[in-house]
Amino acid sequence: MCGIVGYIGKEEAAPILLYGLSRLEYRGYDSAGISVYDGGEVRTVKAAGKLENLIRLTEEGRAVHGSVGIGHTRWATHGEPSDVNAHPHVSASGRIAVVHNGIIENYLSLKQMLQAEGVVFRSETDTEVVAQLIDFYYEGDILRAVSRAVDKLDGSYALGILCSDHPDMLLAARKESPLIVAYGEGCNYIASDVTAVLKYTRSVSYMEDEEIAVVREGSITFYNEYLQQIEKPVVHIDWDVEAAEKGGYAHFMLKEIHEQPRVVKNTLSAHIRNGRVDLSDTMLTEDYCREIDKVQIIGCGSAYHVGVVGRYLLEKYARIPAEAVLASEFRYSEPIVDEKTLVIVISQSGETADTIAAMREAKRLGAKTLAIVNVVGSTIAKEADSVIYTLAGPEIAVATTKAYSAQLAIFYLITVALAEKRGKLKEAESAAIVRALEALPGQIEEILTHKEALQQLASKYFNNSSIFFIGRNLDYAISLEGSLKLKEISYIHSEAYAGGELKHGTISLIEPETLVIAVATYEQLFDKLMSNVKEVTARKASVFCVAQARNAEDAGKAAADCFFIPDTHEMLTPSLACVPLQLFAYYVALNRGCDIDKPRNLAKSVTVE
Ligand code: F6R
Repeated sequence: MCGIVGYIGKEEAAPILLYGLSRLEYRGYDSAGISVYDGGEVRTVKAAGKLENLIRLTEEGRAVHGSVGIGHTRWATHGEPSDVNAHPHVSASGRIAVVHNGIIENYLSLKQMLQAEGVVFRSETDTEVVAQLIDFYYEGDILRAVSRAVDKLDGSYALGILCSDHPDMLLAARKESPLIVAYGEGCNYIASDVTAVLKYTRSVSYMEDEEIAVVREGSITFYNEYLQQIEKPVVHIDWDVEAAEKGGYAHFMLKEIHEQPRVVKNTLSAHIRNGRVDLSDTMLTEDYCREIDKVQIIGCGSAYHVGVVGRYLLEKYARIPAEAVLASEFRYSEPIVDEKTLVIVISQSGETADTIAAMREAKRLGAKTLAIVNVVGSTIAKEADSVIYTLAGPEIAVATTKAYSAQLAIFYLITVALAEKRGKLKEAESAAIVRALEALPGQIEEILTHKEALQQLASKYFNNSSIFFIGRNLDYAISLEGSLKLKEISYIHSEAYAGGELKHGTISLIEPETLVIAVATYEQLFDKLMSNVKEVTARKASVFCVAQARNAEDAGKAAADCFFIPDTHEMLTPSLACVPLQLFAYYVALNRGCDIDKPRNLAKSVTVE
């Protein structure tokens, strides 16, 4: 995620801003910049790449003078990581500088409106629109201009704003993206994350949605959306820096699990317009969707597991032959793909060596490649014929959670788009899926409120030496992921099986008290999976069943322990079923004292074969 810091006081701002940005580096970023009012105008310095580049350019801040400024580390979402796309963004008049975290969903229509008024844009970002819009509304009263501008924004934002006509103030505004103001001695700060200012002060106020703060050297004034002045409590932070970086969570993995509602919402809403899935900015045009005769989905680890979900969805809804293939196998298997094959490449990092090699092989054979990638400007994003970004933000824990959920979200969209364009999905059915998609973030949120139940189950089972997962169809795909999550962070041996496979060998491993996790959310095969549950309970296995609330009674009869996810459209259960499995794995690993964020022998990005 991007990072924001701002300072107003008597000291030179630039070194304070650079220090604040260095405390935000852990969040991941690909460019950085600062704007400082130097007594005559706003001076902006930006640099792609590491913060060191900016530090060098500004001579550790010594080359930029002035005691009021804003700074930013950017994680690209709109436009490549580059100097020009880095923040702060300055309006064409040079008067307004803005740093922004979040995503402005309606930035294109706002940009068109401003362009029609003659405003000239320099970057590809959604943030520049905010700077230009504030300037457009500015008639001498900067607070009113900011208020009018944010009123027009759809999406999420945390904003730090500097106006050269008002160098005695910084402005801050937020909606659905964290922002604090912090109180210093004869100075004040803004930041997206307390870590940026903890060195200077521990007194902060948390901004709420649609509030605006006017931050001066000696005062901070808050306004609500109607520009009425409001009071806000001052909170004393007693966490250490390490805890602060994790936003108060014990581990990045837990923090990222909790970010899923927002990540799924952002990822979906970027491609749902007026109640319809819209992937018109990708290669999935009507003609192309009708032309292809099969789909191959490639990825590694959890990305491959998303492919397994995708394969079931595409065959069922778009009625097109689809296969999920491990990238490391695909590249050496002499795959049969040609110009009529759509190859979907899934990768969080966009840098996984096997996935890159598999994609290049597919391209060499004439296939078209569509990438689902989290990191803008990564190798896979650059080389694929078309890209759909997961808007998950940087993922720090080695075990993926939020990127996996964002990849699932994109796959639902691809499925609907392909199925519609191939004439396999009626309008009413698409509309029902979109409605269910829009409910997903809230349902994930609801699951997270029951995390103590999973903590208790983990305490009961964390000493098991072997844990099996079973499921059928989409539940099999989720079982693969649940099992990987568990084994990679808790080091407990675990395997996932398609329910029907049990009696072909695996059942011989079931002993009294072996834990079997039955994922039974796929409505059509619920009864079949319950038969598998009976097979293992007859051998005295302990069973923990994840099912939809609508099957609570039957699942409760069959399994000693259950967790119920909210009812949803049959296609979307993976997004809900994965959350209790992530939390179960997390709490098991916690009970076993494992290094959760950095499991042994694993790396976040596997850039070698
Ligand atoms: C598991 C995990 C890995 C990655 C895999 C692919 O929690 O994170 O299995 O999914 O290494 O990585 P990307 O998605 O970066 O290609």
